[in-house]
Amino acid sequence: MELATYRIKVDASSIDKKRVEVSVIPFLRNPGDRILQFAADVDTHSKTKAARDKNYGIMDDRLTIYAQKGLRGTFDLEISMSNQTMVFAERPTEAATASTFRLDECAMPECPTDGIMIRATHFSVDPYMRGRMAEGKSYAPGWEVGSPGEGGMCGIVVESNDPELVVGDAVTGFGQWNKFIAASKVSFRKIEVSDAVPASAYLGQVGMPGLSAYFPLEKIAKPQPDEVVFVSGAAGAVGSTVGQICKNVKGCRVIGCAGTDEKVEFLKSLGFDEAFNYNTMSVAEALDTYAPEGIDVYWDNVGGETLDEALARMKKFGRIVACGAISQYNNGTEAAYGLKNTINVVKQQLLWQGFIVTRWAEEFPEGLAELAKLVGEGKLQIKETVVNGFENIPTAFMGLFTGVNVGKMVVKVD
Ligand SMILES: NC(=O)c1ccc[n+]([C@@H]2O[C@H](COP(=O)([O-])OP(=O)(O)OC[C@H]3O[C@@H](n4cnc5c(N)ncnc54)[C@H](OP(=O)(O)O)[C@@H]3O)[C@@H](O)[C@H]2O)c1
Repeated sequence: MELATYRIKVDASSIDKKRVEVSVIPFLRNPGDRILQFAADVDTHSKTKAARDKNYGIMDDRLTIYAQKGLRGTFDLEISMSNQTMVFAERPTEAATASTFRLDECAMPECPTDGIMIRATHFSVDPYMRGRMAEGKSYAPGWEVGSPGEGGMCGIVVESNDPELVVGDAVTGFGQWNKFIAASKVSFRKIEVSDAVPASAYLGQVGMPGLSAYFPLEKIAKPQPDEVVFVSGAAGAVGSTVGQICKNVKGCRVIGCAGTDEKVEFLKSLGFDEAFNYNTMSVAEALDTYAPEGIDVYWDNVGGETLDEALARMKKFGRIVACGAISQYNNGTEAAYGLKNTINVVKQQLLWQGFIVTRWAEEFPEGLAELAKLVGEGKLQIKETVVNGFENIPTAFMGLFTGVNVGKMVVKVD
């Protein structure tokens, strides 16, 4: 437990309202948090101390000030606070399990002198995090056992020493899996939140997964009107964005596969020309049916046999974007699927290129603006699966590997 003190200044000298309510809830951050001390130093028109004291108080965790016009002063709160963290507890050898993670109490951070303190509202869980749980080299630095997980997140500024951010601002950035984190100004940016674009969308279609679709399409795949695009993992965050851009912006014929009939319906609702459930129809049969002339662009989110079947059906000068290989992430090298059709890279003169999205980091602002524009124009729908509760980060992460999510998987903290 930590102690925190807050000084709230109130100046009602220029307002007509009779009552000003200051919510104490933003200061009470966790279920265990308690107000220990409350003191007021105010100036009102009330003549006696008793009359003045009636004008403010804490009721139901709200600091309520019945401001006669002219009330000015300060209210001091001392609060005992706790913080929580989701620790990476154990390296998984295959799929992550509940014992891969551990929920712990941890200290409240200090707000940096040039930074901000954030109350987390949403955490992103992403397939690439499985790579960070492995020993050895991956494209992102590995997690240390005993340290918190980390990744994309959104939050609300609850303390600020940054002149560009004020308490109450919604922000997004990259942080540890703690309910409260301190951050420097460079690692978080302010976001505009609306009904159309909720904060969590900045972890999905207008965040890293959206950029992971946008840039490789522009720079690697370069799909042309009427070309046949096949997207695996199509109902997920990246796949659904790829499919919508190819269909609604590039004018392609788009085929998608996903693991349930519900997801197939979702893909059709997005405008995919064809969609199939790879658990009830083999990829080979589906591609022979829906792309009898072959594939111009294959967007590979899953690797393994799906990739092999796509390789076998690529058209001359086709492009394969190697985005990910989720079907292989829980396998060691020995259990990895052995591809049989790579010779088609030569025969069909294919471009087969991988990427790590941070490669285009300098161009992210432009990409984010483009994605937001597509959302505004109705060409890119935001879809997410929200898992409630900080303690459910592990469940959400594991759900990525069993296909629980439609659209982006996010964890809502409150
Ligand atoms: N290179 C980069 O910079 C970069 C950046 C972002 C993401 N990625 C990669 O892009 C891919 C998609 O990421 P995302 O964030 O959009 O995740 P996502 O697609 O939203 O979620 C993962 C989905 O993968 C599917 N899946 C799980 N296990 C599978 C298996 N064994 N075979 C086939 N499908 C399986 C599930 O859907 P179904 O129900 O359809 O099976 C699940 O919903 C991942 O491979 C990820 O690593 C790469």
